[in-house]
Amino acid sequence: MSARQFLKLLASLVALAICTGAAAAQSSVKIGLILPMTGQQASTGRQIEAAARLFMQQNGTSVAGKTIDLILKDDAGTPDVTKRLAQELIVNDKVAFLAGFGITPSALAVAPLATQAKVPEVVMAAGTSIITQASPYIVRTSFTLPQATVPMAEWALKNGIKKAVTLVSNYGPGLDAEKAFSETLTKGGGQILGNLKVPLANPDFSPFLQKVADLKPDALFVFVPSGSGALFMKQFLERGLDKSGVRLICTGDVTDDDQLNGMGDVALGVVSTHHYSAAHDSPENKAFVEAFKKANNGMRPNFMAVGGYDGMHLIYEALKKTNGATGGDALIGAMKGMAWTSPRGPISIDPETRDIIQNIYVRKVEKVNGELYNVEFETVPNVKDPVKAAKK
Ligand code: DHB
Repeated sequence: MSARQFLKLLASLVALAICTGAAAAQSSVKIGLILPMTGQQASTGRQIEAAARLFMQQNGTSVAGKTIDLILKDDAGTPDVTKRLAQELIVNDKVAFLAGFGITPSALAVAPLATQAKVPEVVMAAGTSIITQASPYIVRTSFTLPQATVPMAEWALKNGIKKAVTLVSNYGPGLDAEKAFSETLTKGGGQILGNLKVPLANPDFSPFLQKVADLKPDALFVFVPSGSGALFMKQFLERGLDKSGVRLICTGDVTDDDQLNGMGDVALGVVSTHHYSAAHDSPENKAFVEAFKKANNGMRPNFMAVGGYDGMHLIYEALKKTNGATGGDALIGAMKGMAWTSPRGPISIDPETRDIIQNIYVRKVEKVNGELYNVEFETVPNVKDPVKAAKK
């Protein structure tokens, strides 16, 4: 090869490298997935990561000609860290989406950044009603506490529960649950004997349970976040509340599928309301549970997993609609009104609020093939977040 030929070859190789590099950079879409992979909320992170990876395994890593690049970050459930990680993902990684958000304070901490950068913030876990109002770029695939709680109070009224005490974790979703339950029960002629609030971090339920025993309500309504239900149940049993005649009712966060089977017989018969049970009887859910367990050493998916799975579905479908174009306005526009069949049942994104509309199921803990499950026995169809619905 002559020197001239060599230089020509070199030049074309360099050009090729530049083109390929540019094409690769252009054709990838980055999703910054921020989750609590450590700390008190670690089960939420574990479930959502597993679900997001399962979705990608089943649906491929290429959408509308773009390669999907999932970047996972651990915020340990600390909102300051969530915010810093979101900033880095926006500025350094140039993510097209921010997703995850294990707890309400983390979702809220990122809202101003999503607004400023016009990056969609897909909330896959957190459940305080107000979150979607914190930025026009927020969309939610989890649930809201009032959405899950109002049907619980309605069920209580229909089933002879007249006097109740509420016990909730003392932060956004707990306060939402307390208010929704108390207002609905009172409006229906019931009475609230006490509103007990337990710290979110390292809770000790014992003194609060003693109070419940003293107040002697017909029922105790409980919300604790995913990951804390087993400790609550243990202390409920230790305090002898299971034999006190006080009926335990709760949102499905307490009888969380991630922990339920380890709670023991104390959980049997507990009635709860929620948007997802691993026992949901549909072909879509059977396939989801089977694939999820297979990919994760037999781990049972919980409601957090389904929020992550559907969040990925929403991202993929939005990209298909925009033909791979990114930019918050186009993507959020594409997401509004989107409807599909989730493992939890039919769901859609409310075009007015960007919040999820879904069925809420009334369930009872039963033993099925030797394992504890939330068995659904009533469906309240197409529930919107009642707080935002009431404001209109
Ligand atoms: C939130 C967290 C949870 O783990 C849960 O089950 C419900 C709500 C939250 O912080 O919004």
